[in-house]
Amino acid sequence: MPRPRLFVTRLLPEPVMARILEGYDLAQPPHESSPDLRTLLAGIRTADALLCTLTERIDTRVLEHAPRLKVVANYAVGYNNIDVDAARHHNIVVTNTPDVLTDATADLTWALLCAVARRVPEGHALVQGGGWTGWSPTQLLGSAISGQTLGIVGLGRIGRGVAERARGFRMPVLYTGGSSAPETADVSWCGTTLDDLLRRSDFVSLHVPSTPATYHLIGRRELSLMRATAYLINTARGSIVDEAALVEALQEDRLAGAALDVYEQEPAIHDGLRSSSKVVTLPHLGSATLHTRIRMGLVCLDNIDAVLRGNRAPNRVV
Ligand code: DGY
Repeated sequence: MPRPRLFVTRLLPEPVMARILEGYDLAQPPHESSPDLRTLLAGIRTADALLCTLTERIDTRVLEHAPRLKVVANYAVGYNNIDVDAARHHNIVVTNTPDVLTDATADLTWALLCAVARRVPEGHALVQGGGWTGWSPTQLLGSAISGQTLGIVGLGRIGRGVAERARGFRMPVLYTGGSSAPETADVSWCGTTLDDLLRRSDFVSLHVPSTPATYHLIGRRELSLMRATAYLINTARGSIVDEAALVEALQEDRLAGAALDVYEQEPAIHDGLRSSSKVVTLPHLGSATLHTRIRMGLVCLDNIDAVLRGNRAPNRVV
């Protein structure tokens, strides 16, 4: 019986590659970086299944070159890189990797929040650069975190994970979206509108998916509602924030700072975000722990196996 043919677009952590090599024939050898369009089209032509990452755009043009393809397993929870209407049209199942990356992404959101509020990168650079001359009562003063109000835009899995971690910081939580607050909350959780959340929060953290409806959800008007002492954190998708408007708000001191893991045109970053001491930037590391990246790969393979065996994929989105 011939083994199914899998196109895995990039090298994944070792245990995932081991399971792939055990169960599949490879349509193309994967590399560290994304394949160019020619390689993508060549690889997908003979594949029964595609395991791709968020840096590959899987659109009609690609799917039209995939006569045998039954499933696209996206190595991410967000799947805005895939044209899901085109997949539906071609009867191709699309799956994602929810749950397994919730903790890693929520943890990283807190790393960014603390880093921007307490000026961690500036302190690190000062010490490493040899410029630290000793303790000072006025050096690198940051903002309080404990007891401040946290605004969660999008109380899905990751938004909820971030909000749950606020308990240790005794932070009241405002949120949009999601069905309900947890039953055992010992600080207040309160659902509200986006505008109200922006006006009342000291930290605004974004956790909505990238869709046409959330494109520039945080634009000039929304930033003008935020407090001049507030911080914006984005570990969701770059398209949700109008970066030009954000840079303007930071330059005009209408916002205390921003901490970003995602950008509108990754890997390009707006010059005004790169050069500002009020901004902390990471290179899209939300799910980047070894444990999580292994689990994401195994979830992709579980989904692919299910579809190729004629079963329902556990994480089907289309
Ligand atoms: C996701 O799953 O959408 C993350 O951004 C991947 O790191």
